[in-house]
Amino acid sequence: MSENQNKRIISDEEMAQQREYIYKIRKNIENRSVRPLAFVETYGCQQNSSDSEKIKGMLYDMGYDFCDKASEADFILYNTCAVRENAELRVFGNLGALKNIKRKREDVIIAVCGCMMQQEHIANKIKSRYKHVDLVFGTHALYRFPQLLYNVLEGKREFDIKNEDGSVFEDISYKRDDIPLAKIPIMYGCNNFCTYCIVPYVRGRERSRSAERILDEVRDVAKMGYKEVMLLGQNVNSYGNDLTDGLNFTQLLREVCRVDGIERVRFMTSHPKDISDELITAMAEEKKICNQLHLPVQSGSDRILKLMNRKYTSGQYLDIIKKVKTAIPDIVLTTDIIVGFPGETNEDFERTIDILKEVEYDTIFSFIYSKRVGTPAAEMEDCLTQEEKHKNFDRMLEVQNEISARKNKEYEGTVQKILVEGVSKNNEDTLTGRTEGGKVVNFAGDMSLLGQMVNVKITKAQTWSLFGEII
Ligand code: SAH
Ligand code: SF4
Ligand code: F3S
Repeated sequence: MSENQNKRIISDEEMAQQREYIYKIRKNIENRSVRPLAFVETYGCQQNSSDSEKIKGMLYDMGYDFCDKASEADFILYNTCAVRENAELRVFGNLGALKNIKRKREDVIIAVCGCMMQQEHIANKIKSRYKHVDLVFGTHALYRFPQLLYNVLEGKREFDIKNEDGSVFEDISYKRDDIPLAKIPIMYGCNNFCTYCIVPYVRGRERSRSAERILDEVRDVAKMGYKEVMLLGQNVNSYGNDLTDGLNFTQLLREVCRVDGIERVRFMTSHPKDISDELITAMAEEKKICNQLHLPVQSGSDRILKLMNRKYTSGQYLDIIKKVKTAIPDIVLTTDIIVGFPGETNEDFERTIDILKEVEYDTIFSFIYSKRVGTPAAEMEDCLTQEEKHKNFDRMLEVQNEISARKNKEYEGTVQKILVEGVSKNNEDTLTGRTEGGKVVNFAGDMSLLGQMVNVKITKAQTWSLFGEII
């Protein structure tokens, strides 16, 4: 058990103080004839989306409404991701463009938060070069947002990027994204320090929420009509390691399955080094746990896995996959891959291709290695040129696309239970939803089916999605 010495539960008094600021802002806003508008843009992972839902909950309680154009908003917030450089460049680009808005409407408030801001060199750059930004706060200051915004509304410029390593706060209302999927964080932070990754530095140490709080939240969303929950953490398999009297991840999952109204349970992300037989058994036994597993492998080369500090070999990884496939034959498998990690040779890269062919993932999420300031890998020597890395990357996609297309083809003619999630972006008469395994399916249907479970016969398969008809 790894006790997190720095874990701090934000006290009821501190939260009450923040609610007081929400109330004060609302009082001021109530004097206006129309509700002010907030624009919130989220980058990065589901954890960040979940944080944005909390921020939007606070803004809503303060009296804000929401809009989907920065140019129309009174309050603009970017919730940022630091995991790769291109995510950061996009934020800087968008922030630059806001200068014009601020020039035209001086009272617009511009704020930036999230993982990128938890890095001092980035926050400093914004402080000195992006003078039109009024408010910056890191991941650890999330619960202090009402106080910070209050100060900004009073005319101050606020930068709160204190590194507190680990806090957990409760009792904040969410403004959740739409039914039917509810994202439920079960733990925050990461202890793994994979050598390429910035997350442990910007999210602090692992800390679990109490099972009781999580289950209350699941019951609440079930009452609100949500049918599917996604349990979130950077490494869900170590859930509970910092709790003395809590449940472990598998026990928690089984409890979540007992909640009436919830029909599907997913979770993200699992680290191969911590996945247990107990979990695989629960996945096979519990009907509500979706037959989907995202198990990031990162590389197929043992040498690179060691340099990455992943703490498993390709052989150990494949043993897990074998167990999972035996226990759950219709499992949908996905993974993350990094191409061009420092020191990766063409020979190492071939081992990654081998593992893709061996496992036959349904989908992969692949990235070219991006150097992150302050991580050990940033100091390691590169072997391949950027051009060679891109060449490998493209070849990998070719190999995988063929596998994905073939796996999707197997669905043609089958009938799948689909939870209707929304209307297709391109065509209003087309609904979209997911299979139990998480594959996207498009089919003709009426908006009234939103949030319902329907049976869909798959008529056509493409590399990225499936098409079908309701039966
Ligand atoms: N906690 C999760 C992943 C979080 S980040 C896990 O361990 O699986 C999501 C993915 O981004 C990682 O799995 C990795 O493939 C990729 N990633 C992280 N840091 C990266 C970097 N510096 N360059 C490229 N890809 C990176
Ligand atoms: Fe990053 Fe590794 Fe932690 Fe995932 S497990 S967040 S890749 S350090
Ligand atoms: Fe990005 Fe932070 Fe998530 S770095 S991937 S938003 S935890």
